[in-house]
Amino acid sequence: MDSLSALAAEFKLQVIEDAAQAVGATWNGKRAGSLGTAAAFSFYPTKNLSAFGDAGAVTTNNGAMAERMRSLRNHGGKQRYYHDEVGWNSRLDAIQAAVLRVKIPHLQKWNAARHERARAYGRLLTAAGLTRTGAESPAPVTLLKTLPGADHIYHQYVVRVRDRDKLRAFLSERGVGSEIYYPIPLHLQKCFGYLVYAPGDLPEAERAAQNVLALPIFAELEEDEQRYVVEMIAEFYS
Ligand SMILES: Cc1ncc(COP(=O)(O)O)c(C=O)c1O
Repeated sequence: MDSLSALAAEFKLQVIEDAAQAVGATWNGKRAGSLGTAAAFSFYPTKNLSAFGDAGAVTTNNGAMAERMRSLRNHGGKQRYYHDEVGWNSRLDAIQAAVLRVKIPHLQKWNAARHERARAYGRLLTAAGLTRTGAESPAPVTLLKTLPGADHIYHQYVVRVRDRDKLRAFLSERGVGSEIYYPIPLHLQKCFGYLVYAPGDLPEAERAAQNVLALPIFAELEEDEQRYVVEMIAEFYS
């Protein structure tokens, strides 16, 4: 975020955070959602802080922008039946808000439990010899590093793996769900075809799309279940 903010300042751009997977995360003590000009959060049912259906929020420290956002979410008007511009119906509905209100006090505890689960994966994958470094052949599993100053909330526990798609199928046959976030980088999505990017233009993003894998993680996951996941990964590479 520091590098992006510096770039944005240099070129007079605004940083809009996609904090959909980052509720509660911090960078040098500042929360995700407060690091740029504005941010978007998702409370979709799979998220760390989730509603019963679609929900989300935007944040900003810019008063004028906040006012405009309030208006845009409400058919582009500040006063009922008076529309200053064309907006949307993007109000958070009361049922979703009620669910979120009950869950918010538990968020910190749930995020801490995810932290614990992430540490356990690191320990177990390393103990299983899957993350060796410096060997002739690249390690089957590469753990993602967290930079000093970053506090992750592990919406996903992502590793980079060799033979990703075969591993994924192997795990699936043994009852272990996994996901790929995301299989197609933005610059190669059909909807952005008009930007005329081609494969090879953003090699790091493309490599990540080919080798990232998210392992099961949630606050209630048990260490025995994690052991099983790691055993299955070890079996695949043995
Ligand atoms: C990183 C990221 N951005 C944006 C979104 C979109 O969130 P929503 O579907 O609530 O609009 C998601 C949801 O999966 C996400 O993971």
